[in-house]
Amino acid sequence: MQTRLFRAVGWSSAAVLAVLGVAVFFLVLTPVKDAALPTRNKYGLVFDAGSTHTALYIYRWPADKANGTGIISQVEVCTVSGPGISSYADNATGAGASLKPCLDKAMAIIPVEQQRETPTYLGATAGMRLLREQNSTKAEQVFAEVSKAIAEYPVDFRGAQVLTGNEEGSFGWITVNYLLETLVKFSFAEKWEHARDTEVLGALDLGGASTQITFQPGVTIEDKNTSVFFRLYGTNYSLYTHSYLCYGQTQALKMLLAALHQAFSGLYHNLHFLNLTRGQSLSSVQATIRQFCTSSWEKVQKEFPTEKRDHLRDTCAASSYTLTLLVQGYRFNHTTWLNIHFVRQVANIDVGWTLGYMLNLTNMVPSEIPQRVTGLKRSNWTAATVLLAIMLILIFSLLTVICCQKNPSGYEML
Ligand SMILES: *[C@@H]1O[C@H](CO)[C@@H](O)[C@H](O)[C@H]1NC(C)=O
Ligand SMILES: *[C@@H]1O[C@H](CO)[C@@H](O)[C@H](O)[C@H]1NC(C)=O
Ligand SMILES: *[C@@H]1O[C@H](CO)[C@@H](O)[C@H](O)[C@H]1NC(C)=O
Ligand SMILES: *[C@@H]1O[C@H](CO)[C@@H](O)[C@H](O)[C@H]1NC(C)=O
Ligand SMILES: *[C@@H]1O[C@H](CO)[C@@H](O)[C@H](O)[C@H]1NC(C)=O
Ligand SMILES: *[C@@H]1O[C@H](CO)[C@@H](O)[C@H](O)[C@H]1NC(C)=O
Repeated sequence: MQTRLFRAVGWSSAAVLAVLGVAVFFLVLTPVKDAALPTRNKYGLVFDAGSTHTALYIYRWPADKANGTGIISQVEVCTVSGPGISSYADNATGAGASLKPCLDKAMAIIPVEQQRETPTYLGATAGMRLLREQNSTKAEQVFAEVSKAIAEYPVDFRGAQVLTGNEEGSFGWITVNYLLETLVKFSFAEKWEHARDTEVLGALDLGGASTQITFQPGVTIEDKNTSVFFRLYGTNYSLYTHSYLCYGQTQALKMLLAALHQAFSGLYHNLHFLNLTRGQSLSSVQATIRQFCTSSWEKVQKEFPTEKRDHLRDTCAASSYTLTLLVQGYRFNHTTWLNIHFVRQVANIDVGWTLGYMLNLTNMVPSEIPQRVTGLKRSNWTAATVLLAIMLILIFSLLTVICCQKNPSGYEML
């Protein structure tokens, strides 16, 4: 009689335990549903204070996914009117004032409640590098004024600094490889995967007053001045990077360069106007430039009737200069030329140092591969905890019943 009672209690407890166990199993394994909460965006602002002009880049990404690639978007690029900040050497307050229209624009884009947490940087390149060499007092005054102007806005301003040529090259390299997902890729298998080293791209850049080359040479670099080392997503990168100041010795070259960079600068822009960025052979590029440069002014104007006269006037100089830089400067030949891809943007994001700079300073390209954290929905977690507690109580009651009963047959059923 007593044995049968114990046996019944035993079986029903075992059944309840089994059901609870299955329930906990499902609760824990049910994937987390996308939260119904609206995705919160984060914003970042980077001023690119170049030698000829300043631009403000406004980036946005979902707050919870910053470590993935392909999710940062460029919301806006605001071009500051007037010259680069280094031109305000004798009127430093003017430099600060010039940034305000773009900051106003950014404040209109970024929701008020997010402005205070928006990291904001100003990076200056060759123009300020030169000014600092000429008169560091003046450079400091310009920096003080632009910092003062930015600090008047409710953003998380993290400072203005001059980037070294090597930094400019390195951050450009990070931008390109981040956007092309050659550093790390979030695969379809929902895992972070490395692209093979050979797929990492080099970066070439022509700015207003300097040009940078950065690539992974695959051999040890003896000269510490041209080597940079960093660890991204668990991989060590040892890069060669070199920045050349373009301002030459002669006044003529200075004037030519000043003219080249009035419109837009860059390898892409200088060749794109003549439709030379589509992967043509070096001979065909040379032929097109030669033909353009030997055309009469009347013919050129007829061919490009809508183009601004100034731009048209400088096109021959700009494209010849670019070709000379690549062939005689960087020594690209007919074969290696075909490896150059001229791009202005990748995934609607401008290729330049600004994104890489922000990614690095906000720790969005970590040195180790991020761990994937699997989350449980709060309600599932609560339910699983309650069920586990009930199971524990049942197990304890069962054990108590079993050890307190004298009839050893009670052990058989379990
Ligand atoms: C640098 O600029 C400051 C202030 O503008 C001036 O007083 C100083 O003489 C300049 N120094 C040099 C070396 O030109
Ligand atoms: C590295 O840079 C320093 C300072 O600019 C210079 O004195 C030195 O000669 C450079 N070294 C090499 C190997 O170019
Ligand atoms: C990468 O660099 C770190 C130092 O930052 C070093 O400890 C590690 O051994 C390097 N790994 C490889 C594979 O070279
Ligand atoms: C540019 O080049 C491509 C092919 O090289 C050609 O199809 C296209 O028509 C060219 N565009 C202009 C505006 O010349
Ligand atoms: C990125 O920033 C860190 C400081 O946050 C710095 O130590 C590191 O050298 C930077 N990386 C590059 C490539 O400049
Ligand atoms: C990205 O991952 C690193 C390392 O796992 C972490 O420290 C960092 O906070 C993450 N960044 C964001 C914005 O989530």
